[in-house]
Amino acid sequence: AQNERESLFIVSEFANNFFRDYLLNSSEGQSVGASYFIERGFSKPVMERFHLGFAPDGRDLFYKTATQAGFSQEVLEKAGLVSKKDDNTYLDRFRGRVVFPIHNVAGKTIAFGARILKTDAKAPKYINSPETEIYHKSKIVYGIYQAKNAIRQKENCFLVEGYTDVISLHQAGIENVVASSGTSLTVEQIRLIGRFTDNITVLYDGDSAGIKASLRGIDLILEEGLNVKAVVFPEGDDPDSYIRKVGGEAFTRYVEQNQKDFIRFKTEISLEDVGQDAVKKAELVESLVLSITKVPNPVKRQIFYQEVAKLLNIDEAILINEGNKKTVTNL
Ligand code: GTP
Ligand code: MN
Ligand code: MN
Ligand code: MN
Ligand code: MN
Repeated sequence: AQNERESLFIVSEFANNFFRDYLLNSSEGQSVGASYFIERGFSKPVMERFHLGFAPDGRDLFYKTATQAGFSQEVLEKAGLVSKKDDNTYLDRFRGRVVFPIHNVAGKTIAFGARILKTDAKAPKYINSPETEIYHKSKIVYGIYQAKNAIRQKENCFLVEGYTDVISLHQAGIENVVASSGTSLTVEQIRLIGRFTDNITVLYDGDSAGIKASLRGIDLILEEGLNVKAVVFPEGDDPDSYIRKVGGEAFTRYVEQNQKDFIRFKTEISLEDVGQDAVKKAELVESLVLSITKVPNPVKRQIFYQEVAKLLNIDEAILINEGNKKTVTNL
C-alpha cells in the first residue's frame, strides 16, 4: 500500500507538470487556457503559485504521453486520470478544461479539479478526481499548502466555497484562505485548519442556496473548540467576483463590517423562517441552546447565552437551565 501511495504521488506530479506545461507551452493551452485565466484576472505569478494548468481537448493526449513516459495503465486508472472504455481504449478524464491541482499540506499534488470553459446545461461546471489512496476529499481543503503560513501569522483562516475564490484573494494579497470546494464541512477538515489557527471566518457566496444546510458545519467548528464567524456576500457575488469588483481594501472592509459571530449569524438566518410563529421560535431557541452546549469553553458559552437572551428577548437563566439539561442528557 505504501508503494501504491508513492506511485500515485509520482503520477499526480507528472500529470500536474503535463497540464502546466500544456497551459504555458502549447498553442492550444495559450490561446484557450491561459486566455481564460487572464480574462478572469489571474496573473502569471498566481497561476504559477497554484500550478494551474490546461487539459487538451482531445481523447487521450495525456494518456499517450504518460504511457510513453513509462506509467502503467493501471496506475493512471487508479489515480483517476484516465478511464478504460468498452472498446479497450483509454480516455483522459480531464479534456478541454482548465485544471486546478489540489495539494496536500506538504505541497504534494494529490488530485485535480477542472473547470469547463463555457458553462452550459450539458456538462458539469467542475469535475474532480475520484477518491484515491492519496486523495480523500473530506480530509483536505483546497489551498492549505499555499495558505498555512499566512493562517498562522494572521491567526485566522477564511473559508470560501470555490477554487477561484482562493486564488483571487491570494492575488489581492489575502493569503490566509482555503476552500471547502462545494462539499459540506467535515471534522477532519476543521482539525486540519485547527493545526494552524483557532479562528475561522466562513465567507459565503451571495447566491448560496446552501447557507442553512451549512449551519451544521458551523456547529462542528464549535464542537472542535474553534471560534467561527460568518459573512455573506451581496446577492450575485462570491469572494472572487467581489474582490475583483472592489479591490482588496474594500473587500477587507466589507468582511470586517459584515462578519457576525456564529450565534448572531445562526439566529438571523433562522429568524427568516420563524416570523411570529411561537412554536418555531421555541424550536429555534432549542437549537441555539444545543449549539451553545457544544462550545467547550465555559466563558464563551456564557457570552453566547447572554447574546441569545438579548437577540430573542428571553431570560438568560432559562436558557442556561435548558442548556444544562441538554448537557446532562448528552452525557
Ligand atoms: P466559478 O464559476 O469558476 O467562479 O466557480 P465557483 O467556485 O464560484 O463555483 P460555485 O460557487 O458554483 O461552486 C463552488 C465550488 O463547488 C466550486 O469551486 C467547485 O469546487 C464546486 N462545484 C461547483 N460546481 C460543481 C460541479 O458541477 N461539480 C462538482 N463536482 N463540483 C462543483
Ligand atoms: Mn510541484
Ligand atoms: Mn455558488
Ligand atoms: Mn465564482
Ligand atoms: Mn462561487
